Amino acid sequence: MSKKLTFLILSGPTKEYIDPVKYISNESSGKMGLALARAVFKKGHNVIFVSGQVLKYPKNVNLIKVVSALEMFTKAKANLKKADIIISAAAVADYRPAKFQKYKIKKAGSSIYLGLKKNPDIIKYCGKNKFNQVVVGFALETYDLLKSAKIKLKNKNLDLIVANGRESFGSDFTSVYLMNSEEILQIDNKNKNFIAGKIINETIRIFENIKHVQKNS
Ligand code: C5P
Repeated sequence: MSKKLTFLILSGPTKEYIDPVKYISNESSGKMGLALARAVFKKGHNVIFVSGQVLKYPKNVNLIKVVSALEMFTKAKANLKKADIIISAAAVADYRPAKFQKYKIKKAGSSIYLGLKKNPDIIKYCGKNKFNQVVVGFALETYDLLKSAKIKLKNKNLDLIVANGRESFGSDFTSVYLMNSEEILQIDNKNKNFIAGKIINETIRIFENIKHVQKNS
């Protein structure tokens, strides 16, 4: 085997607390992140796994548990330079409450309004700051999937994007498109472990390509 690589994998949902008991989150199970970590371990490489709260975490990884998007961002930045390949399968909340209420909000009038602030785009930061690293994102959409994925690939400066539909959440099976700037590969209704293997192989291929170009320039 060639050099042992280090993968930084971001996974699971983030929780954005409104007050000590209420939060904004999503349905991400972290199953794809788990499958990715297992696929990397099978190949003998290292994983730094930054994960939101889920039911099952991978073994054989450097596990960093986080709750919010801001925490995930801090941990991703702190580990960025150690990684050869960065993959975000995390369902990062786009917004967080503008103000965390120290005490539980009491029921009062017929409606209340919640101010929200945009969270940093973690994988975009990784894409914009990469140095001979491979950066991979996911795109989950309910419509215009391929069009949106293509835009994200470019805007976030990614090497690869995995596009999938809403039905992927929580399931062991999914259908995806693996998209780089030149081609699209469709994988239909396969187990997430199988898909994870394909994604990891593809990231290693891109990484070796970058090294090859670098060596010959
Ligand atoms: O822009 P959108 O959220 O659809 O992009 C999805 C991709 O970006 C996923 O890989 C997700 O993990 C990542 N992302 C992120 N930080 C955010 C939002 C999304 O890293 N704040």
